[in-house]
Amino acid sequence: MKRPNRIRRHVLLTAGVMAGALAMPFAATAQSPIVIKFSHVVAENTPKGQGALKFKELAEKKLPGKVQVQVFPSSQLFGDGKEMEAVLLGDVQLIAPSLSKFDRYTKKIQVFDLPFLFDDIDAVNRFQLSKEGLDLLTSMKNRGLVGLGYWHNGMKQLSTNKDKLTRPDDVKGLKFRIQASDVLEAQFRALGANPQKMSFSEVYQALQTGVVDGQENTWSNIYSQKFYEVQKTIAQTNHGVIDYMVITNAGWWKKLPADVRKGLAQAMDEATEHANKLAEELNERDRKRILEAGKAKVQELSKDDVNAWRKTMEPVWKKFEADIGKDLIQAALKANK
Ligand code: LMR
Repeated sequence: MKRPNRIRRHVLLTAGVMAGALAMPFAATAQSPIVIKFSHVVAENTPKGQGALKFKELAEKKLPGKVQVQVFPSSQLFGDGKEMEAVLLGDVQLIAPSLSKFDRYTKKIQVFDLPFLFDDIDAVNRFQLSKEGLDLLTSMKNRGLVGLGYWHNGMKQLSTNKDKLTRPDDVKGLKFRIQASDVLEAQFRALGANPQKMSFSEVYQALQTGVVDGQENTWSNIYSQKFYEVQKTIAQTNHGVIDYMVITNAGWWKKLPADVRKGLAQAMDEATEHANKLAEELNERDRKRILEAGKAKVQELSKDDVNAWRKTMEPVWKKFEADIGKDLIQAALKANK
């Protein structure tokens, strides 16, 4: 029962200090730092998890006392489906959703989901840094969101709870968890499978209990979420990409003091470089860890197998060509060497 009194006394004392402070010239008062909440859905030991921590370190070093960055991993603060709204409402300042999760805001970014569009992550990188790729960062300004950069995770692999996973026929009739993307829905329908949109935080349990039979993801996500413990086979399909756009509230960003905005932009550029360098290394490390754990079989595919997947999935491109834009698809294809 003593606590309320202590709290009240503290409030009164603080109010007194505040009153004194208000009487002093403005420049003499200590400014409290701008709190920047960075929320994401993956574990810390992943490319995005590491990128967010690097951003915090750099931003606080470049802007000492001016900003405080709080990082919330693993959907602790907001999960899929809620995080974009939270940015718009100002409940969080930075998020880095997978590029598959933007189709409510723009159809253009769906280009990244087209199966077998990019040969590898280097091609994805070249496209992101092209004029067309950079333009996408500001393509949601009219919806109140602005992109500060692209972060890599890597190429997607397919996994199921079945022994055989080499040809498209092996997934006919199976249920797959997908991210909230109409392109990914069409991709699994083209395979004759049943896609189900689901938040990332729910996937492990859905795989474990058999609500779904399989999923698609990068090695680092398959490892850090322990999907390999509840799947029998992971096929090295590399059929698509999971990368991120770091986004913020366009109004909040614009209203920041110019020196703070500049410092944050620099911190973001450097954190981007760090995360992107690390991504391939972490995926390779986690692929090895999955092999060593010996729980799920890692299925290598022949050229002929990969071509069969490609042929079955590629008709999806035509379906989304009008929404995405033929020019944008061509620009992405040009990034393959
Ligand atoms: C997923 O939802 O499967 C992933 O894209 C999550 C992430 O952010 O990597």
